[in-house]
Amino acid sequence: MRPLIVANWKMNNGIKESLSYMEVFKPIVKDCNADIAICPPFSGISELKKSMKGTNIKIGAQNMHHEDNGAFTGEVSPQFLKELGCEYVIIGHSERRKHFNETDEFINKKLISALNYRLIPILCVGEDMAQRKKHETKRFIKKQLVAGLGKIGGADVRNIVIAYEPIWAIGTGNNATPDQAEDVHLHIRDLLSKIYGKSSTANVRILYGGSMKPENSKELMVMPNINGGLVGGASLDPKKFAEICMNV
Ligand code: 13P
Repeated sequence: MRPLIVANWKMNNGIKESLSYMEVFKPIVKDCNADIAICPPFSGISELKKSMKGTNIKIGAQNMHHEDNGAFTGEVSPQFLKELGCEYVIIGHSERRKHFNETDEFINKKLISALNYRLIPILCVGEDMAQRKKHETKRFIKKQLVAGLGKIGGADVRNIVIAYEPIWAIGTGNNATPDQAEDVHLHIRDLLSKIYGKSSTANVRILYGGSMKPENSKELMVMPNINGGLVGGASLDPKKFAEICMNV
């Protein structure tokens, strides 16, 4: 399976910084063996997309509303993302669940809407440390996955990406070990396969996210069910992110 490496810049990098980033990043990754996407803040999507013209780099968004348009002050619709040339959209990141109270039901609406617009949703799931300590990880991931995917069908599941991001590993410098991550990734693949059948889900990419960096990306990505990464902090440095992309 061709790996996918996604940068989630979160609320970092204005337009000027984004463009100088690209000048460093583009030449290093031009022969990369992975699919690459960058998810900048909404304000930078348009300019960044222009700077990617003729490259192997794709653009994505960090969030969207599920409605096409309407009285939702401050929100961005999938239609607008599509108009800007977005191919991916991160859905249900733990920071959105925590700070903006996004529920699995709301996340499912976004997922369906993204699929309707032919955006590739990257559905994020992941447990916190208390849940891990209580051995609740797999049960919790199942709940998030089943509710997040909701009623989408087998044909649609082929077009989504799942990201396993243990909350305790995000921004902490403490990544899950390759074995810990693979254990959950395999669980996710088994669940998908049980719900939708093996043929629809064998090629669904499951990304790992949480303190992924050049020093650990290779050992994580050799695991059979880790098919790429969703990178936060290390993606803010173009050289580090490029190294992760080239290291697949
Ligand atoms: P870090 O790579 O900074 O741990 O963030 C991971 C993340 O949240 C990506 O979505």
